[in-house]
Amino acid sequence: MTPDTQTLPADALVFFGATGDLAYKQIFPALQAMVQRGSLVHPVIGVAKAGWTVEQLRARAYASLQEHGAVDEDAFQKLSNLLSYVDGDYHDPATFVALKSALGNSQRPLHYLAIPPSLFGTVTEQLAASGCASGARIVVEKPFGRDLASARALNETIHRVFPEANVFRIDHYLGKEAVQNLLYLRFANGVLEPLLNRDHVQSIQITMAESFGVAGRGAFYEEAGAIRDVVQNHMLQVVGLLLMEAPAQRGQEAIRDGVARLFKSVRTLQRPDVVCGQMEGYHQETGVAPDSLVETYAALRLHVDSWRWAGVPVDVRVGKELPVTCTTVTVQFRGPPQEVFGAIPAHNVLRLQLTPGVQVTLGLNTKKPGAGMSGEAADLVLHRQDWDGMAPYDRLLGDALAGDATLFAREDAVEEAWRIVDPILGQTAPVYAYAAGTWGPPEADALLGPDGPWVAVQPDLSEYGSGPPPPSLPAPHGSASNPLPAVPATLARSVGE
Ligand code: BG6
Repeated sequence: MTPDTQTLPADALVFFGATGDLAYKQIFPALQAMVQRGSLVHPVIGVAKAGWTVEQLRARAYASLQEHGAVDEDAFQKLSNLLSYVDGDYHDPATFVALKSALGNSQRPLHYLAIPPSLFGTVTEQLAASGCASGARIVVEKPFGRDLASARALNETIHRVFPEANVFRIDHYLGKEAVQNLLYLRFANGVLEPLLNRDHVQSIQITMAESFGVAGRGAFYEEAGAIRDVVQNHMLQVVGLLLMEAPAQRGQEAIRDGVARLFKSVRTLQRPDVVCGQMEGYHQETGVAPDSLVETYAALRLHVDSWRWAGVPVDVRVGKELPVTCTTVTVQFRGPPQEVFGAIPAHNVLRLQLTPGVQVTLGLNTKKPGAGMSGEAADLVLHRQDWDGMAPYDRLLGDALAGDATLFAREDAVEEAWRIVDPILGQTAPVYAYAAGTWGPPEADALLGPDGPWVAVQPDLSEYGSGPPPPSLPAPHGSASNPLPAVPATLARSVGE
């Protein structure tokens, strides 16, 4: 592809896995949103092996919009007119001959592989053999590989057909409004940036808590586990954007260079850096082996060997069936060097709530009104925004169509991220049991040592009005619709031993 065509928008969108779950939950709502904005005007071709007709695909799209958003009849009609369908096996060249014919005069199609990674190689080869890869870009879903070796092999396979500039690896966390805001907040303000380094920051914690379990994806989880599912990608991307140096120049590669360089300075994790947990009841999930040791919880300490961050612990924990659903970054600043007013609470923090919604809070100590010089903790809410930003898939698909790769994981960063977690994948550490509705196994507290404890995480929903939270947000454990299960006697039983 010449530099010219790289910057031109795609002129057709092909999505493989059109009858699948991802299309149903995310892609159809994103397509309708793009049609509403007028940014999707080109043919959209669904591909799958389901024996369907295009009418069935349209009906599926309609049902998807009813369940995941709302149908805008006018936009849906326009989307229906753009939509066509190719049915066939991905191993069968005839499927791709049919796709080539459906593409008509398209010069720059975007192929979106919403299919299992085991099929990426087959589909890219078939695209090349049928002539559908010429001038095309490709979007691939996570997980991108399952360890460093398989990610490298997958990159090689894809690169045999598509140059890196035409490969868009989705990490939907990068499409979140709050994650975008993290970057903006850092590099659009002069006041915060000078504080974000080892001189002023004592520790950093990132918690991704989910109050639900594996949600019917037991078989997927057996192959993944928490580290592969959300640490190697979502959490490390957040770490990258939070800790990277300021981009050297503008443009899409500058941010991706910054993240890749930061990852290079993160030490490869070793077994003592991680504590794994498994929620009670995981073995009862469909598709889960009765003796499975797969982790549904992980706490880990990252060491960043850079001039800016050396010695600052970066602690990350993720887990299913925790008390709340909330992803929060907490930057703990060092206290003042002397106690002018006696002991003060350690409340110098910057807190970034990434889900639900977007919230940025600066925690400060302020004087209690009245006599004496005693203080109290107060939160200065810098920014708060409600849900209705752009949905991640809407943003990411739009960017991929436009050819903007800023929010997509680049080959070097993906491989570095696998390098960081590679030694702790699989059952390399004991897995401790924890009860649903708790904050994971107590062993995770010991990981933090004197830098503990883990900060309390509670989603702040206060801007979302007096009604119930949006339907996508599960009820917290302990609420009327999600009561706490009985807590087992032995929380700290290691199922790995
Ligand atoms: C997905 C993981 O990538 O991200 C899920 O596979 C996880 O296990 C989800 O629940 C979290 O994303 P979000 O956008 O719902 O917070």
